[in-house]
Amino acid sequence: MLERFLTGASTYSHSIDHLIFLIAALVGFWLIVAEGFLFWLIFRFRHREGQPSQYVTGEEKHLKRWITVPHMLVIACDIVIIIGAVQVWFNIKQNIPPAEQTVRVYAQQWAWSFQDPGPDGLLDTGDDIRTVRELHVKVNTTYHFELTSRDVVHSFCVPAFRLKQDAVPGRTITGWFRATRPGTYDIQCTQMCGIGHSVMAGRVIVETPEQHARWINGASSSPYAAQASNPASPTHASLDLSTVPGAALAEVRP
Ligand code: CUA
Repeated sequence: MLERFLTGASTYSHSIDHLIFLIAALVGFWLIVAEGFLFWLIFRFRHREGQPSQYVTGEEKHLKRWITVPHMLVIACDIVIIIGAVQVWFNIKQNIPPAEQTVRVYAQQWAWSFQDPGPDGLLDTGDDIRTVRELHVKVNTTYHFELTSRDVVHSFCVPAFRLKQDAVPGRTITGWFRATRPGTYDIQCTQMCGIGHSVMAGRVIVETPEQHARWINGASSSPYAAQASNPASPTHASLDLSTVPGAALAEVRP
């Protein structure tokens, strides 16, 4: 339903959308009922000439019902939401499917950088491909991402995937996604991380297997490859952002 307004491009985007819709529908229903009832009461018990006010304490049984019955109904709705939320949380955050490919995602003030395993499919080998602000992935492939921060708390968010995961310095957090349609999707940092937070953006480029193979071949034969194959090149070294002119720079090998 939400997809009509916002592209869903991962296997779990639908379940997040359904949960948001469930919450909006239940909360919206009670909002309309409660506001409607409030305005009806205001109208029904408006000031009338010659009619004295009633001073009620609300402790009488027939009045108390107006609190306890809606209260129980709202709690029942809460339980429905909790069951839905736990299911979605379990399926996305706990029950992580086995990886077909693993990439690393580095957050730092104020850019995203990525490490792709390259042609051999193994991380920390000479043919790894490092990119800044651009993550290239293959469609219909289960990716694990190992997310770390080099400085403060950031959040890796890809709205089209309905993916959001905080990056915490000192920790490597593994998450996953499986993109379902080729295209270019936004990445945006979603934790306040300093003056450059709002420009801490990037792109996920979901490619067909042919496009992805072409990208891997092109990237690993670029002049940077020699540098990347240098075992001395530090995996966790900070990126010198003064060398990054903007989003157009697709590949930087620190
Ligand atoms: Cu990084 Cu906000």
